[in-house]
Amino acid sequence: METTSISTNGESVPRDEIQGSVAGFPGEKNWVGVPLHFYKGVWYPAFAIRGAISFRQHFIARDTDIILASMPKSGTTWLKALAFSVVNRNIYSPTESPLLTTPPHDLVRFFEMDLYLKSQLPDLEQLPSPRIFSSHSHYETLPQSIRESGCKIVYICRNPLDQLVSQFHFTRSFKRKNGKPLSSIDEVFDHVCRGIQSYGPFWDSVLGYWKASLERPDKVLFLKYEDLKEDITLNLKKLAEFLGVPFTEKEEKDGVIEEISRLCSFDNLRNLEVNRTGFYQNTGPSNSTYFRKAKVGDWCNDLTPSMAEHFLKIVEEKLAGSGLSFKVSE
Ligand code: A3P
Repeated sequence: METTSISTNGESVPRDEIQGSVAGFPGEKNWVGVPLHFYKGVWYPAFAIRGAISFRQHFIARDTDIILASMPKSGTTWLKALAFSVVNRNIYSPTESPLLTTPPHDLVRFFEMDLYLKSQLPDLEQLPSPRIFSSHSHYETLPQSIRESGCKIVYICRNPLDQLVSQFHFTRSFKRKNGKPLSSIDEVFDHVCRGIQSYGPFWDSVLGYWKASLERPDKVLFLKYEDLKEDITLNLKKLAEFLGVPFTEKEEKDGVIEEISRLCSFDNLRNLEVNRTGFYQNTGPSNSTYFRKAKVGDWCNDLTPSMAEHFLKIVEEKLAGSGLSFKVSE
């Protein structure tokens, strides 16, 4: 086992120490038997835990960085496409966009499940500014340098019922190593009600970013999937303004906002060859599993009214007094 110390952003942690601490984290298994580790208040899937720790210990943010954060199955793919398009609109016209030939997850890469998983110290210095990254970690778990630098964070949340059901279908759609087949949503439901899901508990993820967005509105933008579905133009303007690249009057008149929303729309992205074929990071889920139905209120096809009521009650209790609420139907 490697014992050399590696340089960190303030701490120096030998690699085997990381291994040792993982063994000491509380553990659980998710609904298909995949181990989860509880690290700094987040249930990380075992495969991502080293990436999560390295990310937290090593990442140094630039003031110009943009961090897209979310719970899985909340519209991360969509947000990646939108933010990438907004930020790079003066480099690529919609007809030349890299989104036409590259999956959104390869254009805006995950810290825990990609960059810091492949290497403990990925070379991110050579990337031009503004760099756009994404994370499923909670606000409190982000590296200090993200919270303290001038970089911007955009969080997208989705109502808990659709998030749960989307996760159920996502898990069902591909086989994990050592994972057992998932037969019924009941198995997922029980875990999620206890907060035990990849990158959960759900309420802690949303609450951390929600509070941060209220305390530091110029630092954290809190978006809701359902709002984007309802009015993408308004939300694209909000996003561009927040990122410091507002649309000009001329751009608005020339239909640039509509072009971006069309390019990033579910139907457009889903039907692109690049998103219909291939696999996330070659061995992960197929790219097509990131595009399913994209409906608000689809949960009613899988959850009974009493299940929905039960779960919403739990979430409401957890979010009590926060002022955060969700739209669960169209
Ligand atoms: P459903 O499973 O309800 O269809 P994530 O990107 O965080 O993994 O979330 C995936 C969910 O977002 C899926 O929801 C997927 O269909 C939906 N989605 C993917 N791309 C989208 C887009 N461009 N616009 C709207 N929804 C999208």
